[in-house]
Amino acid sequence: MQRIVLIGYMGSGKTTVGKALAKDIGLPFYDLDWYIESRMRKKVSQIFAEQGEEGFRRIERNMLHEVAEFEDVVISCGGGTPCFFDNIDYLNGQAQVVYLKADPEVLHRHLLMGKGDRPLLKGKTPEELIQFIREQLEKREPFYSKARYQLDVSLMDNFDKIKITIEKLKELLNL
Ligand code: S3P
Repeated sequence: MQRIVLIGYMGSGKTTVGKALAKDIGLPFYDLDWYIESRMRKKVSQIFAEQGEEGFRRIERNMLHEVAEFEDVVISCGGGTPCFFDNIDYLNGQAQVVYLKADPEVLHRHLLMGKGDRPLLKGKTPEELIQFIREQLEKREPFYSKARYQLDVSLMDNFDKIKITIEKLKELLNL
């Protein structure tokens, strides 16, 4: 049975890489944010607006416990998922967890291209954004680092990125 979970900061490519890996190894793919949105019939941004971050984290934990029971799947989490409650320990007990690690500068570049629907980043100028990423990444790193596997994706920031990342992941996970 394969259960692969990708974690990492916003903009590290969890969803893109997860989807591509799942396709490559022939498993279904679940994105936790999408799963939450379809189960709750609400956008993540709407849940944040109505119930605050605390409400979102509670829902996120409950939904995590649903998807992380599925067998033979690839799952990508939200950037904050491993950093609340006992989520990272739970995940390590359930799955092969991979941290997609990237430098703040790389994350910043990716997020500037598409930060529109991320409630935590809303309204930030590019300067505020890089500062926020640096500070939050430092706080989150101890949680991310608990993943059994780690893959640095900063250096794979070119046009062949996805292909190379998938090959490295397969090597790492012995797939
Ligand atoms: C969050 C990341 C988002 C989403 C929510 C909160 C975070 O997911 O779960 O906006 O706290 O880092 P992505 O990492 O897929 O953007």
